[in-house]
Amino acid sequence: MSNTYRIAVIPGDGTGPEVVDEGRKALQAAATRFGFNLEMTDFDYGGDRYLRTGEVLPETAVDELRRFDAIYLGAIGHPDVKPGVLEKGILLNLRFELDQYINLRPVRLYPGVETPLKNKTPEQIDYVVIRENSGGIYTGTGGISMKGTSQEVAVQSMVYNRFQVERCLRYAFEYARKFGKKARGRGEANTLGLVGKTNVLTYVFDLWERVFHEIGEKDYPDVKREYYHVDATCMWMVKSPEWFDILVTSNMFGDIITDLGAETQGGMGIAAGGNINPQGISMFEPIGGSAPKYTGKNLINPLAAICAGAMMLETLGEVEAANAVEGAVKAVTGTRIKSLSAGKMGYTTSEIGELVVDCIQS
Ligand code: IPM
Ligand code: MN
Repeated sequence: MSNTYRIAVIPGDGTGPEVVDEGRKALQAAATRFGFNLEMTDFDYGGDRYLRTGEVLPETAVDELRRFDAIYLGAIGHPDVKPGVLEKGILLNLRFELDQYINLRPVRLYPGVETPLKNKTPEQIDYVVIRENSGGIYTGTGGISMKGTSQEVAVQSMVYNRFQVERCLRYAFEYARKFGKKARGRGEANTLGLVGKTNVLTYVFDLWERVFHEIGEKDYPDVKREYYHVDATCMWMVKSPEWFDILVTSNMFGDIITDLGAETQGGMGIAAGGNINPQGISMFEPIGGSAPKYTGKNLINPLAAICAGAMMLETLGEVEAANAVEGAVKAVTGTRIKSLSAGKMGYTTSEIGELVVDCIQS
């Protein structure tokens, strides 16, 4: 009997459904070739449903989603809904409720893709950011008092406990051990770089740094440890991305630096991420938004969604299939597509999906 994976699909808003459809085709092609089954069930969570029903996420949603092996998400964000409502109510809510405490974001320049970094090659832009995804300023306490007065006060705290920090760092060390440069035959060492701000945020990043060295020394002596301030990291991401191997950082810093990273790998048309609960159910998504102005035009680039699908296969344990999908994306960027930008690719959304499928099949 071949394996069957049950996938919950949330196409979402804007161009989400279009890119997810191409992702489905690629995933099904990989499943056929590598002999497993994907059973996909769609959920209509998103802006349209919210505008229709007034409900962001039904009460039963989280429990229902827990019954699947993984979640595949298109995009969340609707022009007629106030910013924050859907992002917090759907995306962040699912990340927190399903305890997807890791956000895995590879920064990888594929062949043929134009990077704004002058003279940098795919060999030089190839690292992974592991973003803590359950805490920090995203879930810290806060509030507003004396609202509307000249004395108004707003507080939003960066809160981390040892448990959150340690589990994230342990995941990162394990990941560096398995997928660092040495493990991939591309360097002398597997290196994990902690990205923080120990010179100013002397409480939170003191905790991060102490736990980093403590568990690193004790349990992961084979992984080389480095520390970088987040501001300097931004500089090097532009100037010398080849220095990086595996990076680990807090939720907010990870959010910010991965947009910079995405841009250096060719932009939102290609950048994918995984919200991972290593013991539970994980959710995979293109990093870009719902791009409302391109909705229904068959112009948006589906490669980021397809790459997110590859990450999903890898996490499900279908590594060969994942590599085949990623390889197909590389073949398409390397030889076919003119640009990654919507409308300038030289192909429609569905044509790109078909090119990827052809490569997976051959
Ligand atoms: C991301 C996004 C989200 C985040 C928003 C939409 C809540 O920017 O996935 O990076 O801040 O995490
Ligand atoms: Mn972001």
